[in-house]
Amino acid sequence: MTIRKGQFITVEGGEGAGKSSNLAFIRVLLEQSGIEVVFTREPGGTALGEDIRDLLLGHKHTGMASDTELMLMFAARAEHLNRLILPALSQGKWVLCDRFTDASYAYQGGGRGIDMRRIQFLETWVQQGITPDLTLLLDLPVQTGLDRAGQRSEPDRFEVEQTAFFERVRATYLERAGQEPGRFRIIDAAVTLPQVQSQIASVVTAFLETLEDVHE
Ligand code: TMP
Repeated sequence: MTIRKGQFITVEGGEGAGKSSNLAFIRVLLEQSGIEVVFTREPGGTALGEDIRDLLLGHKHTGMASDTELMLMFAARAEHLNRLILPALSQGKWVLCDRFTDASYAYQGGGRGIDMRRIQFLETWVQQGITPDLTLLLDLPVQTGLDRAGQRSEPDRFEVEQTAFFERVRATYLERAGQEPGRFRIIDAAVTLPQVQSQIASVVTAFLETLEDVHE
């Protein structure tokens, strides 16, 4: 068992799931409990990672091969883990991350159709056993999410994908949540923001209680 006090929480979801506002809400919930939170995102979170993010999300390399995309995601992740996530956790800080490796399974595996075993190989290599302690999956029907997201600014290199791509992304997320019920909590993100936040508050409170039990 890894001995570290900091907890690693990730938030995942498809387009228009309301990740940004709900991440801010989770951050406040944790800080109100006296927890020091490092708030970060993937791809990104470090200077190099943010440069890789620009390559991945921008339209300069529209024909990028799927394997290149996958390996850039993991290159950014290696940097993020080694330079930000692991140091923070080892100092007892909590890390709240907007997307992590589940997104690689969902988007590169489900969406692009890359063999999941390749993703597993990279995960084992790069993460060396580090996985999130809790993952909140903001789930909603693809069309509902696309309708919400459509009201925003210029779409990035993923947002221009078709509905079928996002259906595969959603199905992969749900499949992974089903396989790892101990880590995942599925949040119904199709309802109103206050209703979503009430589900999140219950999940976070219950998670904090389990940690208190362990330390008693
Ligand atoms: P967002 O976090 O602002 O939604 O944008 C990040 C985009 O990158 C999103 O479309 C999902 C995609 N992504 C992957 O395809 N694979 C990954 O491993 C990660 C972290 C993100």
